[in-house]
Amino acid sequence: MTTTNRFTVFPLQARPNLGRLWLGAVAGTVLGAALGVHAATVRLDELDLTAMTAGWGKPQPNLSITQKPLALGGVKFEHGVGTHAESDVMISLDGKAKWFTAKVGVDDHASNAVASVEFIVSGDDRELWRSGVCHWGEPPRECRVKLTGVKSLELEVTDADDGNKNDHADWADAAFAFAGAPPQTVKTLAPAEAAVILTPPAPREPRLNGPKVYGVRPGSPFLYRLPCTGARPLLFRADDLPEGLTLDYTSGIITGKVATAGTYRATLFARNAFGSTRREFRIVVGNQLALTPPMGWNSWYIHYNRVTEATMRDAADQMIASGMADFGYQYVNIDDCWMKQKGDVPYRDTNGAVLPNWNFPDMPGLAAYIHAKGLKAGLYTSPGPWTCGGYVGAYQHEATDAREFADWGFDFLKYDWCSYGQVAGGSDLAHLQRPYQLMAGELQKQKRDLVFNLCQYGMGDVWNWGGEVGNSWRTTGDLGLARDSRLPGFYHIGFSNARHWANARPGAWNDPDYLLVGWVGDAHGMGQGRPTTLTPNEQYSYLSLWSLMAAPLIFSGDLARLDAFTLNLLCNAEVIAVDQDPLGRQGKILRQTRDEFVLVKPLEDGALAVGLFNLAAHPRTMTVTEDELGLSGPARVRDLWRQKELGALARTLAVEVPRHGVALMRVQPLK
Ligand code: GLA
Repeated sequence: MTTTNRFTVFPLQARPNLGRLWLGAVAGTVLGAALGVHAATVRLDELDLTAMTAGWGKPQPNLSITQKPLALGGVKFEHGVGTHAESDVMISLDGKAKWFTAKVGVDDHASNAVASVEFIVSGDDRELWRSGVCHWGEPPRECRVKLTGVKSLELEVTDADDGNKNDHADWADAAFAFAGAPPQTVKTLAPAEAAVILTPPAPREPRLNGPKVYGVRPGSPFLYRLPCTGARPLLFRADDLPEGLTLDYTSGIITGKVATAGTYRATLFARNAFGSTRREFRIVVGNQLALTPPMGWNSWYIHYNRVTEATMRDAADQMIASGMADFGYQYVNIDDCWMKQKGDVPYRDTNGAVLPNWNFPDMPGLAAYIHAKGLKAGLYTSPGPWTCGGYVGAYQHEATDAREFADWGFDFLKYDWCSYGQVAGGSDLAHLQRPYQLMAGELQKQKRDLVFNLCQYGMGDVWNWGGEVGNSWRTTGDLGLARDSRLPGFYHIGFSNARHWANARPGAWNDPDYLLVGWVGDAHGMGQGRPTTLTPNEQYSYLSLWSLMAAPLIFSGDLARLDAFTLNLLCNAEVIAVDQDPLGRQGKILRQTRDEFVLVKPLEDGALAVGLFNLAAHPRTMTVTEDELGLSGPARVRDLWRQKELGALARTLAVEVPRHGVALMRVQPLK
């Protein structure tokens, strides 16, 4: 223990549960008294770091996140903490602490031009210091923060809003000078909350859900199952479908091909023993797919490398049986791990066609099985030689693979950067774009539509160009690896994604990653599933945030273990309608403070979807004014989770919002 210059006497009950620090501080007290100095110091690396979170790996005392000596811009440090964005730790103080000092930056061992982070120090929920964006290779930045009066200190490292790839961050020489009790790291625990189902069940009368607009290319196979709730049996009808399409009136599945480009306005009808309903449906035959954000399910966060063809068939069955398909969920997507693993030769057949592993004996059969239910099939690969999980990627086989995926009958491709960095030959924009442009070109040549999802974690500000290449692009690192900190990881991912609101448009969506609710596996160890650790209010916030951001709604928990709460959360038709609104605008940030986040999304019919998110750890009255919403005339307000009218909009709308919860409303101006 090398604590120096201490002068403090702890009352026994304030003794930290840090044996080393206690002993050191006592020794220091004696030393300090002898020297007549009135402050003690303790280094950050001497505190218990188990409560410190990191977006990748485990925070390291006196080493970088990859366990190398701490180094910033060529300067080596003996002490400090190496971590990885997004990272967070809370430290409890007694108001008598004096200073926090550190030298911060991107660790030299990150050795990658894309690494960039920002350090933030906050005290009692107020920002005290911010580093500005730090890049790899830069000299360390000095942090010196006065702590007088502060009781709760937070040290955060963000990904500087460009994804957290290679974001190795160092709090070098980080130390506290204190006069009272020594600083201690703390883990905040959420109070227990009842899982209240807010949404009334769908009525027994038919209700047609899902998007109101749908894009398809001329001549491509068309497949669309009308999402409709209500008592079975249901009978369907469609008027004014374009030539080439037919509807099966009992299953509600539309199939066929449309030869001629154009916008076709059809009317869909559904009827059962209790009533009938109708809905307009615009079919846009042209070059754009995914005119509303894709909705479906992906295998990653529950099945990882355990995924099999049987799991995928079950998933399709469950999407129908659970009723999710009746709300518009349609893609059933295999993530990584369906190909041969490194070492399991041969990887390809004599024609170069990629071979699925023994868990996937019949890829065309799988796609056909999914299609027979009116659902769509998706799969995954990497532009690199290997996927992130170490399976065969598409590198130098792009044309063959695209053709094969289409021949098998797949409708969606996630293209994950993974090992591509090893063969990219550069990290400038052109090199970042090249593999995605190449695959986009190959997909264009196919005679079926494949929605193209770019997965490269936000590199090269992908939101500025992703829409010219594909239909959606991940804006951040993996949500499942963004660990809990002051707020659960989905908020950090959500805040980062929300900034790019102006880039989203029909056919081109920001993708903040999957819906990790319900029964999910721990991404860190690719573990078996367990119930989400998010509170019910956090889960309402999650779905609200994704819907306001017009994000793809891809559930990645266990479809076989959907409880009533999770199903209600995923299947609120009015919340989904916000996400799927045909105008295709992403919610704009109206307000963002430490405790409040407010998003407003304009909808096609002139209404606004408004989300008031309470980020504080206690309930809070949140307000939004008519002026802020840009409204002047009368308007009515509807609570979308409860599907309940709240009345006329007053000049100021004030709502009590629970801890980490949301008020999600639709404000409809009255003409
Ligand atoms: C990356 C992606 C994840 C998942 C895994 C599979 O981490 O970002 O979404 O596809 O690879 O290995």
